[in-house]
Amino acid sequence: EQAEKDGFDHYMLKEIHEQPRSLRHTMAGRIDEAKQMVKLPELDLSPETVKGIEKIYIVACGTAYHAGMIGKHVIENLAKIPVEIDVASEFRYRNPLFGQKTLTVVVSQSGETADTLAALREAKRNGSSVLAITNVVGSSIAREADHVMTTKAGPEIAVASTKAYTSQLIAFYLLGIYFAQEKKSMEASDCAALVQELQKLPDQVEKILGHAEEIRQFAISIKEERQMFFLGRGLDYAVSLEGSLKLKEISYIHSEAYPAGELKHGTLALIEEGTRVIALSTQPHLHEKMVSNITEVKARGAVVLGVALEDNVELHRSVDEVCLIPATHPLLAPVLCVIPLQLIAYYTSVSLGNDVDRPRNLAKSVTVE
Ligand code: G6P
Repeated sequence: EQAEKDGFDHYMLKEIHEQPRSLRHTMAGRIDEAKQMVKLPELDLSPETVKGIEKIYIVACGTAYHAGMIGKHVIENLAKIPVEIDVASEFRYRNPLFGQKTLTVVVSQSGETADTLAALREAKRNGSSVLAITNVVGSSIAREADHVMTTKAGPEIAVASTKAYTSQLIAFYLLGIYFAQEKKSMEASDCAALVQELQKLPDQVEKILGHAEEIRQFAISIKEERQMFFLGRGLDYAVSLEGSLKLKEISYIHSEAYPAGELKHGTLALIEEGTRVIALSTQPHLHEKMVSNITEVKARGAVVLGVALEDNVELHRSVDEVCLIPATHPLLAPVLCVIPLQLIAYYTSVSLGNDVDRPRNLAKSVTVE
């Protein structure tokens, strides 16, 4: 087992560090370098079919659901197709409305999650075509879907998902750009610029991993906390949910992710002297609003770690500590800002002496509904 961990103490840490490679693998063969365009030959979708898609449902569980939340933003922004997102165990029981031109995208690392598989079958029964984003070729979900996009993350052993999540994000970027190309909903030059930024992500992730020691120090500082809060807006909110889930899963510290603007409608009552808050701010059009939310929690005594873009000086001044993210296209920032959150969860769990790779009560793949 030690050999399989490649010298890392745990599978989770190994998988976190594998992300530059898993992102590269997931992009490989799907980018036309000369044209700086996305190609997805594995999808059997004609340009007419893509142009005709009226609505997309994204359905998944756990971390894959959080990736789907980013996918919704990406597809709506780039391809201008309305997207609804559902937790798989909720989807079937709310009688979703399918039309002939509805595409259902299911996301599953294992391809075996019972609720996601049941949602896929429900969509097919209702005449929707189904596209699966999965890490396991030959899994039940891959076999039953009409179209399959595999994430090339390699086997993920740790229960807490890391490299599968970031590869799922890459799959959504590729899909969003591909749909936009087919629909001509984006200028070719904007597509090319985004593809270029996408290709920089693996090196940028590597750079963030180089700061693991600072992040470890932060994790040690929160290990005695009973509760934590994550705040963000838009894409940062979606990433906050994933950061909060990671922390809960393996450190057993209760944490809550909140859309920063909703704070004053309830959660602000829980902020008191010394409450630890992690605030994400990677979206330039939301910087100012985030600074004002941070000021609100700090006025009640919160101690805030900001996860922010390198050049966001105003935000740096408003927080107690800051973790810097290299500049990128705003839609791509989730791939970068989730890395410190994965490391925070990992090092907190280690410093508490928990079984990082096999957290209590949880399973890697949930095959019961
Ligand atoms: C379990 C795992 C999570 C995972 C979720 C969905 O809860 O512990 O890490 O995100 O299932 O799994 P899937 O294989 O469908 O992505």
